[in-house]
Formats: sequence, C-alpha cells, structure tokens
Amino acid sequence: MTSRLVICGALLLAACNSSSKADGKGSAAAKVVQDDVPPGTNPFAKHGEAVVEGRKIFLKYGCAGCHGMGGGGGMGKPLIDEEWRFGSDDQTLFKLIRGEIPNQTMPNMIGKAMTDEEIWQVLTYVRSIYAGDPAKINWVVPPPVSAEMLAAANQHAGDPIADGKQTFSQLCTPCHGPEGHGDGPAAVSLNPKPRNLTDAAYMQPLDDRYLFELISRGGIALGKSQMMPAQPTLTAQELNNVVAYVKSLSAAPAPAH
Ligand code: HEC
Ligand code: HEC
Repeated sequence: MTSRLVICGALLLAACNSSSKADGKGSAAAKVVQDDVPPGTNPFAKHGEAVVEGRKIFLKYGCAGCHGMGGGGGMGKPLIDEEWRFGSDDQTLFKLIRGEIPNQTMPNMIGKAMTDEEIWQVLTYVRSIYAGDPAKINWVVPPPVSAEMLAAANQHAGDPIADGKQTFSQLCTPCHGPEGHGDGPAAVSLNPKPRNLTDAAYMQPLDDRYLFELISRGGIALGKSQMMPAQPTLTAQELNNVVAYVKSLSAAPAPAH
C-alpha cells in the first residue's frame, strides 16, 4: 500500500494527474500556459521560462531586498535552505506570499498587488534556487534551466542606489536635506528633527526590513514620530531602492564641511 502511494507520487505523477483530470477539469486544461498538474499546485512548476519570469518578479516586487539577490537571505530568511517556517508545499507558500497566513511576519501588502500567475511564477523561481536536501522536496521539481536562461534570470534590475537617490531627492530632501544630514528647509519647524541619515553609529545597526517598513508605513507605525511621513504609493522596488540609497549615506565616511 504505502509503497504504491510513494511510487505514484514520485514516478507516475503525470499518470496520476491525467487520471484525476479525466474527472472533468476541462476548463483548467483550456488555459494554455498551465501545466498538467493537480489543481491547487503550481501550474508553472514545469516551465523553465517561468524561472526567468519569476526572477524578474522577484526583483520587481522587492523580494530580493529581504531575501537577497539570489535568495540566500540577508536581512530576511534564506529561501534556498530546507527550513520552512510554515511549510514548503505550494498552497502554503502561495498563501504566505498573498499575505494570508495570520501570524506571518513577512509583509502582507506585497502579495495583495500580485496576480495568481505572478505568485506561481515567483514560486517557480524560488523552487529553482533551492539548494537543500533533495529528499525533502515535496513539490514538482522545475526542469533543468539552460545556461542562457539562467544568465537572463540573473540580470540585475537597474542601479538601486542611483534610482533610490532620485526618489529621495523628490520625497525626502525637504526634511532630510540634499545629503541626508537632516537639514532640509522643512526641518527648521520640526520636532523631533529629521534624522541625520549619515550618522553611521545610529543608522548602520538598522536592518533593511525596519527601513522598508518605516519608509513605507511612516514613523508612527514603528513607534517613531508621525513627523516622519508614510509613502504608501511607493512600490516595493522603489522602497528597496530608497533603502539602498539611505544605507549608502551612512556607509561612506561623512563628507567634511
Ligand atoms: C520586508 C521583508 C520581506 C520581503 C520584501 C519579502 N519577504 Fe519573504 N519572508 C520574509 C520573512 C520575515 C519570512 C519568514 C516567514 C515569516 O515569519 O513570515 C519570509 C518567508 C518567505 C518564504 C518562506 C521561507 C521559509 O523559509 O519559510 C518565501 C518562499 C518567501 N518569503 C518569498 C518571498 C517572495 C517571493 C517575496 C516577494 C514577492 C518576498 N518573500 C518578500 C520577509 C520578506
Ligand atoms: C516631513 C518631513 C520628513 C520627510 C518628508 C521624510 N522624513 Fe524621514 N524623518 C523625519 C523625522 C522628523 C524623523 C525622526 C523621527 C523620530 O525621531 O521619531 C525621520 C526619521 C527618518 C529615519 C530614521 C528612523 C529612526 O529610527 O530614527 C529614516 C531612515 C528616514 N527618516 C528616512 C526617510 C526617507 C527615505 C524619506 C523619503 C522617502 C523620508 N524620511 C521623508 C521627517 C521626514
């Protein structure tokens, strides 16, 4: 019994699927882009191209800001290991990215803006970079990805610091000043004063996630002053770029004056 189930899961997946599809899931099969996989599992699981698309989505929505450019982690959890906070099956990860797991600490607003297809494709990318124990894989393994496709997947999206600087000069300099010293024209009347963002002793211990949420949700959401406004219209990518720029201000030695 048990061994028959295992064989069905590991080797005869395609055969098992087609028998379940025979019970009348004609409309699902009509979607051109979808693979022949059981309902509720990743329809892009076997699409090599979805790895490339998924990588673009990973950058577009700022996943890299927390999970690292290659998913190896940084301020956020690594995605390439075999530890999964809520489980690693397709449905669980789909819900996590959609922001529907009640006690998740991963921000739930990002996934609200994503289509189902974007979530599945980004998950195909996440699957493709898994480097943990192969015995623990409980999803359809993406096909081998060609060298060209991998090269395309690893292209970086623009220059985060330069792009972040542009946003900063539009939205932040009135208070934080053109160089981030906290001396913009609007600072005169503010109490508390805008933070000097070049103050390495204060700024360097702050992690990406804190900065991301602070800038997105505003000071009041994180126990800071309401004088530090929210920027709810910035996309995750724009937020990550601004975070990259803000961090660059305290990474370099403060200019003498
Ligand atoms: C602001 C930081 C942040 C951003 C942005 C973010 N994540 Fe996460 N992510 C987390 C945290 C924290 C966890 C750990 C689970 C939890 O506590 O919610 C996590 C968990 C995960 C997991 C499960 C990992 C595990 O080991 O359990 C996946 C997969 C994942 N994120 C994918 C993504 C994708 C894809 C995006 C972009 C659409 C994204 N994340 C954006 C912070 C982030
Ligand atoms: C209306 C004025 C104003 C604008 C605009 C503004 N800030 Fe601030 N910011 C503040 C004030 C005031 C504080 C200090 C908050 C406190 O100490 O409670 C602050 C603090 C900060 C901090 C430090 C948080 C901490 O832990 O003390 C960062 C980082 C920051 N701002 C980044 C930004 C970025 C990036 C932008 C543009 C997207 C921005 N701010 C726009 C007023 C502003």
